[in-house]
Amino acid sequence: MVKAHQFQEANKQRFLDELFELLRIPSISADSSYSQEIVHCAESIAENFKKSGLDGVEICETQGNPVVYGEKIIDSSLPTILVYGHYDVQPADPLELWESEPFEPIIKKTELHPDGAIFSRGSADDKGQFFMHVKALESLIKTDSLPCNVKVIIEGEEEIGSVNLEEFLRKNKDKLSCDVVLISDTHIFSNQVPTVTTGLRGLSYVEVTVEGANRDMHSGLYGGAVPNPINILSNMIASLIDENGRITIKGFYDKVEELSPEDRGEINKLPFNEDIFKNSIGLKGTEGEKGYNSLERTSIRPTLDANGIWGGYTGEGAKTVIPSKAHAKISMRLVPNQDPQEITRLFTEHFLSIAPKSVKVTVTPFHGGKAYVLPSSDPGYIAAKKAMEKTFGKETLPYRTGGSIPIVSLFEDILNAKSVLIGFGLDSDAIHSPNEHYGLFNFYKGIETIPYFFQYYTENKTK
Ligand code: BES
Ligand code: MN
Ligand code: MN
Repeated sequence: MVKAHQFQEANKQRFLDELFELLRIPSISADSSYSQEIVHCAESIAENFKKSGLDGVEICETQGNPVVYGEKIIDSSLPTILVYGHYDVQPADPLELWESEPFEPIIKKTELHPDGAIFSRGSADDKGQFFMHVKALESLIKTDSLPCNVKVIIEGEEEIGSVNLEEFLRKNKDKLSCDVVLISDTHIFSNQVPTVTTGLRGLSYVEVTVEGANRDMHSGLYGGAVPNPINILSNMIASLIDENGRITIKGFYDKVEELSPEDRGEINKLPFNEDIFKNSIGLKGTEGEKGYNSLERTSIRPTLDANGIWGGYTGEGAKTVIPSKAHAKISMRLVPNQDPQEITRLFTEHFLSIAPKSVKVTVTPFHGGKAYVLPSSDPGYIAAKKAMEKTFGKETLPYRTGGSIPIVSLFEDILNAKSVLIGFGLDSDAIHSPNEHYGLFNFYKGIETIPYFFQYYTENKTK
């Protein structure tokens, strides 16, 4: 690994320049007007794969955005690691809240990133992170020190639910066969407290509509006698969570995994501080399910949140109107054993059952995904912990986080492989928000650490 690290040191600036090239491409998957940019981004990654020494580089078409594939197979008797990442990014809006151009990366210092951070949409989620793997691989290939076989898939639809990746996995099951999947698309606890992510939450997502009269009405002429969809929708949403912060949907908690006191103790080993948490997001107080702290509420417990609500008049000034319709988008984060389809069904049944007779309520389900847990006894976890400890020089703890990467549970179902989540971001990197950034320290630390994962995983497997 010494030679690979020397190569990395000698090529630091070029690695960054190449990442900047990718960050300049607005590969937004949610907005179809960027489909040319998606293709451009996939092509640019494929070119980089080739220059980095990967073989069999291909842009694989799907029903949606293409998947970029590359591999380096050195010996079929050695373990094979499948690296996964995504090149699509979230939309950049609200644009006015960005302090620099979202698709013109710049380096700025921050309190948490005294060495500088790359400010750009996609810098942490996930271009800066998957690119660490490409450059780690380059450093191993070019110094003849790759210890195992590696396959790489970088997809373009993660931010819209990886809708076509399942079919891609099923069709390419043999081509993608591997011992373990390695992913950098999560964060560590802090630069001082390295962690390996051992859990992701699942997701169930719906849009709801409440319809009253057949047109918007004068709130003076009709108000008082007709149902107001906004008032009704607000009440319905408010009733979904009780005074103890528990979700009121019948059956919602039936399959929720309850952690043993030991596992709970393990999670709470992290130096989580409620005040730092609050202050970092400018909050006066936190809230949530009774009996759990904020770290647990954001990782091992399921949630229900309205993500958007609209209807009626929202323009300038006052317009006296009772709207005919009101809408909301609602997400539910799920924990192990909760099935997203079943939860969506329970939500729908419950939501329709609490609707007043005066209105028509509809529920439209969106994409979802299952939660995921990697046991700390897994060889992949052990190799990742050892690799982090090698390069950070600090004890590494397991970290269950609240975000979702729906494809992870399908890697297990389809490829029969566990995923190791070795992300290097920070939760303060503002992913999905204006001014997303990724620390230079984190970027280079990732490139340095990944080769050790390959080495330790291989040593353990071939022992
Ligand atoms: N990389 C994130 C997920 C993430 C971030 C997990 C940090 C854990 C820690 C991913 O790109 C993402 O945004 N996922 C979506 C789900 C998807 C279906 C849109 C999410 O979690 O909302
Ligand atoms: Mn991501
Ligand atoms: Mn994301």
